[in-house]
Amino acid sequence: MSTLVAAAAGAAVLVASPASGAASTLAAAAQQSGRYFGTAVAANKLSDSTYVGILNREFDMVTAENEMKMDATEPSQGQFSYGNADRIVNQARNQGKRVRGHALAWHSQQPGWMQNMSGTALRNAMLNHVTQVASYYRGKIYAWDVVNEAFADGSSGGRRDSNLQRTGNDWIEAAFRAARAADPGAKLCYNDYNTDNWSHAKTQGVYRMVQDFKSRGVPIDCVGFQAHFNSGNPVPSNYHTTLQNFANLGVDVQITELDIEGSGSTQAQQYQGVVQACLSVTRCTGITVWGIRDTDSWRASGTPLLFDGSGNKKAAYTSVLNVLNNASSTVPTTPTSTTDPTGPTTTTTPQNPGGCTATYREGQKWNDRFNGEVTVSGTNNWVVTVTVSSPQRIIATWNTTATWPSANVMVARPNGNGNTFGFTVQHGGNWNWPSVSCQVG
Ligand code: G3I
Repeated sequence: MSTLVAAAAGAAVLVASPASGAASTLAAAAQQSGRYFGTAVAANKLSDSTYVGILNREFDMVTAENEMKMDATEPSQGQFSYGNADRIVNQARNQGKRVRGHALAWHSQQPGWMQNMSGTALRNAMLNHVTQVASYYRGKIYAWDVVNEAFADGSSGGRRDSNLQRTGNDWIEAAFRAARAADPGAKLCYNDYNTDNWSHAKTQGVYRMVQDFKSRGVPIDCVGFQAHFNSGNPVPSNYHTTLQNFANLGVDVQITELDIEGSGSTQAQQYQGVVQACLSVTRCTGITVWGIRDTDSWRASGTPLLFDGSGNKKAAYTSVLNVLNNASSTVPTTPTSTTDPTGPTTTTTPQNPGGCTATYREGQKWNDRFNGEVTVSGTNNWVVTVTVSSPQRIIATWNTTATWPSANVMVARPNGNGNTFGFTVQHGGNWNWPSVSCQVG
């Protein structure tokens, strides 16, 4: 690649700066290899400033812990309720984060009216739920857990008994087809737990279902591995094999609800192993932890998360960050395009007298998105306006606090992480560089 700089006004030739050093947040570190790092979020914690501070700083993908489940979104049949889910989705999107939808169809956390249904009435109610909720959030969800936890534990390798399963074995594929029709842009995932060990019957059962779906054209794009670990259910040594074998079926794999009970270096090593397993699989596109601080966890007594109850980084946090920072050469999707721009890799806005300069440098590129970085000189108190052109959309940011005056304009300010910030653009086929301009704040 060339290191020539195209100046917005007048000619200038500079040498592009080398790739920046180690990233200082989980999201920024994961983005170096094109992945995301997410967390589950509870709506009732969005007023907790410590919680929100960590959320905004560290994560670029959000899953509603309970608020998008069937009992929350359709408490009475045909009456949908999105208040708490919307709070989470809007908070995430306002911060440039993406959203994993969880979950459209599940035997658990069904509203009371659904628990009492069976047969055709239940099948139709489930499909209507999938259609309504996925339609409501159309265009806002990166990936949906369309069906959650439909396989039995133990040695059978078969389906879990449930009222949904009793409507017929095809209920899962029916749900996936309804979700695809409702939101064609969302990746559609099957999500489950105890599917981490390749030799377990449950893992094999899910694998056979995904293999069957792919062979018959049932729309499935990804498999979520919840990854709830503890001493009785430790991280298996063949975890990488499991992820790779599923990916080889032609689906993305994602770690969707990671938590590991324990403390200190033992816990840190286990986290490291899980993250390394994901990073070693090209189609492992991201990792989500199931909560922020230990005290936020559904199993708080096991202290299974990356931040302690006061919001301090634990040893597990540091090990995850370090592994992510060492993975920058691994790219999760094939960076292909015959139309992406080649040539200069940076562009610099002119500096007003007493003002500041913003230099845009292109980052990694993928089929559907690209990264860009902006370095500001001349002041530490900058306001940079980044404008993208339709149908581009900025879907993630790092090392900045962003506001959004309109859909294609982002106003970026320092967030304490220096004078270089970055963002990911979902380009929709438009590879034009964003324009950047700088003002002293
Ligand atoms: O908010 C109510 C509160 O008002 C009430 O007083 C209290 C008394 O029971 O319940 C509170 O709701 C609880 C809710 O979490 C919010 O804390 C529910 O009882 C409780 O059942 C619910 O647990 C959730 C669990 O799913 C339900 O199955 C956990 O928060 C949530 O972390 C957990 O998440 C699941 C994933 O969706 C799927 N994979 C497993 C994972 C862990 O179980």
